[in-house]
Amino acid sequence: MLDKIQQLMVEVDQLQAATAEEVEALRIKYLSKKGCIPALMADFRNVPAEQKKEVGMRINTLKQAALDKINSLRDAAQVAVTAGPDIDLTRTPYPVRLGTRHPLTIVKNEIVDIFARLGFTLAEGPEVEDDWHVYSSMNFADDHPARDMQDTFFVEAHPDIILRSHTSSVQARVMEQQQPPIRVICPGRVYRNEAISARAHCFFHQVEGLYIDRNVSFTDLKQVLLLFAQEMFGPDTKIRLRPSYFPFTEPSAEMDISCHLCGGEGCSFCKHTGWVEILGCGMVDPAVLEANGIDSSVYTGYAFGMGIERITNLKYQVKDLRMFSENDTRFLSEFTSAN
Ligand code: PHE
Repeated sequence: MLDKIQQLMVEVDQLQAATAEEVEALRIKYLSKKGCIPALMADFRNVPAEQKKEVGMRINTLKQAALDKINSLRDAAQVAVTAGPDIDLTRTPYPVRLGTRHPLTIVKNEIVDIFARLGFTLAEGPEVEDDWHVYSSMNFADDHPARDMQDTFFVEAHPDIILRSHTSSVQARVMEQQQPPIRVICPGRVYRNEAISARAHCFFHQVEGLYIDRNVSFTDLKQVLLLFAQEMFGPDTKIRLRPSYFPFTEPSAEMDISCHLCGGEGCSFCKHTGWVEILGCGMVDPAVLEANGIDSSVYTGYAFGMGIERITNLKYQVKDLRMFSENDTRFLSEFTSAN
């Protein structure tokens, strides 16, 4: 046995191979399941007990030497190939694995696309904002609780500079730069100082819409939102508006859609009500128009805002909000989009 090991040791040391195929043949000969080194190992149980220790050590040394040698031959063969004159080094290696779009991006694109077809243009603005654009211009009273530290992230040492808590700030920026007609859709990330759990996060994403022109009415708002709901959740979707309150709209409403999982029959998803809430909306408060330089005796407008996570959850039933920011590719690769 010891002789055999010694002989193989010499053999391994002198191995030569020019191509990857030759290297593979050597690997099969020496190291594969039926190769001669594993065969030695199988014979190990026949070695007399007093020799077991030495033989065992030598076999292990031999196996390691064979592995090292074959690996270095493989590397050398690889270098020889890539350095060869006929190889196109610019060719894309196969297989090419394309990533997937993030589910929130897919849903955001879908929402923006629906409103783009209705004539809305895209507007974006900064995530680090000043108090005026986030709150004051939106008719939030000085002591409104949303301004509280519990809800708002402040940039240290600048009480006026905050992380925006809704994308209405983008609407303020559009209004101060442009006179009606205004028809914009504003997607973006927003921040709220909440404890992170399956149902809440310290940041999430919104899409808000704003339409200001002469004679814009609540009926226009309702029609656009019905169309959106049916495009997003299917042609049989019904909507329901419930009275609500926002500082920047009057009247204000929250919109539910008929539960698309049970068709409105009632299920655990809609808590057996047949309806699920999807967005807030209303007619822009004249005080907001005036604060942003728009004559409220001439123009009226509507606004609406929704959470992209919420819409995504309704579409795909993602149970835990944290999944959206964990970057687990097993989760992310479950979502596909056409573009
Ligand atoms: N800005 C509101 C929010 O963040 C949403 C909203 C926008 C409601 C426009 C009504 C009109 O909750």
